[in-house]
Amino acid sequence: MGPDRALGQEPADVVDAPILAVPRIEASSVELAGVSKRFGDVTALSDVTLDAKPGEFLVLLGPSGCGKSTVLRLIAGLEAPSAGTISIGGAPMNRVVTKNRDVAMVFQSYALYPHLSVRKNIEFPLRSRGVPRDDINDIVPRVAESLRLTDYLGRKPAELSGGQRQRVALARALVRRPKVFLMDEPLSNLDAQLRVEMRAELVELHRQLGITILYVTHDQIEAMTMGQRIAVLKDGVLQQLDTPETVRDEPANAFVASFVGSPPMNILAGTVVESGGELSVATVAGPVALPPAEGALVRQLSLDSVLLGVRPEDLGIGRDGALAATVSLIEAMGRLQHVTCRLADGHLISVQGAEHVALDVGDHVSLSVCGPVHLFDPVSERRLS
Ligand SMILES: Nc1ncnc2c1ncn2[C@@H]1O[C@H](COP(=O)(O)OP(=O)(O)OP(=O)(O)O)[C@@H](O)[C@H]1O
Ligand SMILES: [Mg+2]
Repeated sequence: MGPDRALGQEPADVVDAPILAVPRIEASSVELAGVSKRFGDVTALSDVTLDAKPGEFLVLLGPSGCGKSTVLRLIAGLEAPSAGTISIGGAPMNRVVTKNRDVAMVFQSYALYPHLSVRKNIEFPLRSRGVPRDDINDIVPRVAESLRLTDYLGRKPAELSGGQRQRVALARALVRRPKVFLMDEPLSNLDAQLRVEMRAELVELHRQLGITILYVTHDQIEAMTMGQRIAVLKDGVLQQLDTPETVRDEPANAFVASFVGSPPMNILAGTVVESGGELSVATVAGPVALPPAEGALVRQLSLDSVLLGVRPEDLGIGRDGALAATVSLIEAMGRLQHVTCRLADGHLISVQGAEHVALDVGDHVSLSVCGPVHLFDPVSERRLS
């Protein structure tokens, strides 16, 4: 059995069949099962298992070097895994060459051909597959129209704005009608406003076409606003794969908690103290009383110390709270006030609220917890449950 047979259910001619771009594309699932990737001594990915469902917008999120691009390159077949299985639409792909995987990759650098017009750039994948001229003339204007590129078809890439170039790169990927789209930080070259616009456009395009997208970013706001689910990676290890809501409200560990959110969750170490039958956590800034459910959990696990997580929006600032801090930065962000305070041990803690409190840098304030607390194991840093 030759490698291409691994493509399975599909007759070979479907892969290179003429492409009809709009409106819907046949979407496929993508699965990684126990995938590791080593480059010499460097382990880029360790035992990663994750999946994107057909038509899902899955975001891969994590800091620089955590292995995000490596995941996409493995799915595209640009690298081979050291261990594990990669499947597209349920068919194992490990032995299938890139051109037969039927995925399209959009990079941060759009990699357009500078000497070709926008039209020729978009046509390129069709021409190189020998799609008939009549079909090309049918498809390209429709895709250009859907990405608002009709007026620019005659221009060269150098005569376009960053956002327009980005859309040309997307159009070139779309005309191929691939089963899976892989996007590696495609918006990172754009200015802040255009990024917000393109985010909305990509989400709309995804909804219209029902395509499977694996989208890499290190920007947690991008992840939270675009992803139907988010896979958080750190040091080549999958930390959590869930909806944005669950990643925010029930982070799997202290790393996820402190990576997601703007500003992210505050994490304080503390010892567990009992007084009058009630449990609290003694932190460097003062005690934080544990709500009954969290208290019961700590008791059940007989923990002496925990990591306590509190979101900035769940902290109140005043003069009669239990946590002592000194104001070090005050930012007015639209309706929200964001205050960064320093604790006795030098750690910074963020507070965010709708009420604009009159404060000066250097003020001694006290903070009170006015929302849920999150507890993590002090050693494994996993969420307690
Ligand atoms: N060809 C290679 N040879 C050696 N090491 C590599 C190679 N490609 C990637 N790595 C290493 O593997 C790890 C993961 O790299 P990867 O490019 O996947 O990270 P990333 O999450 O995409 O980071 P960034 O956000 O900076 O793009 C890094 O430590 C990187 O140095
Ligand atoms: Mg990368």
